[in-house]
Amino acid sequence: MNVEDKKKAAAEHAIKIVANGLKIGLGTGSTANYFIEAAAVKVKREKLDVVFVPTSAQTYALAQKLGMNLKTLDEVPFLDFTVDGADEVDSSYRMIKGGGGALLREKIVASSSRFVICICDDSKKVDVLGKFPLPVEVSRWGVNATAWKIERMLAHLGYEKPRMRIRATADGKPFITESGNPIFDLDLKAIPDPEKLEGYLANTAGVIDTGLFIGICGIIMMGTDNGVVETARK
Ligand code: A5P
Repeated sequence: MNVEDKKKAAAEHAIKIVANGLKIGLGTGSTANYFIEAAAVKVKREKLDVVFVPTSAQTYALAQKLGMNLKTLDEVPFLDFTVDGADEVDSSYRMIKGGGGALLREKIVASSSRFVICICDDSKKVDVLGKFPLPVEVSRWGVNATAWKIERMLAHLGYEKPRMRIRATADGKPFITESGNPIFDLDLKAIPDPEKLEGYLANTAGVIDTGLFIGICGIIMMGTDNGVVETARK
């Protein structure tokens, strides 16, 4: 199976949990898109009453095109669960997210959900997080001062030669999130203690949120060559 088939298989596996009366958060990204497409079909076919809360304009546009019943998180602040992809996930169900830039809204929606289902292909499984550059959303105001603080903090924590770049669009302009903020991508190679790093980043003035999702994912549905492997956090 190729990567896209594995993503699709994981997304279609997650469909079994979509049922009448639920309020479901919709993640962002290519794997989440497969789930959205399959969920739209099931809801229509079985005439289910399900409310969906999207995590980005991209997800909103797709779900709206498919005729799904959409609400904002302000209208529906408590969700039964959210289904989302990941850029990396480890055996402790910790994830790096935000490759698509939707990390802040994804984290707000995820943390407003009873649990999160991570759907992904097995290339996302890692022993140690950090090969994928960690996205950190920061305030546009004072961005250079925040960069300096993050660099000093990483040196203090013993990260050797971390590379940090401000995310840019294809035409070289600074990438700005839907919440109006730039993103730093921290190339750390390995994050030996994600909880510690998350704590330090969260305490850095100017940092709005990070792509580290810790204690948020409850179930992983992973597409592999041998089918979808589903595991739940103990
Ligand atoms: C969006 O900002 C990200 O968090 C995505 O959920 C993540 O990048 C996974 O995307 P794919 O499913 O496209 O790999």
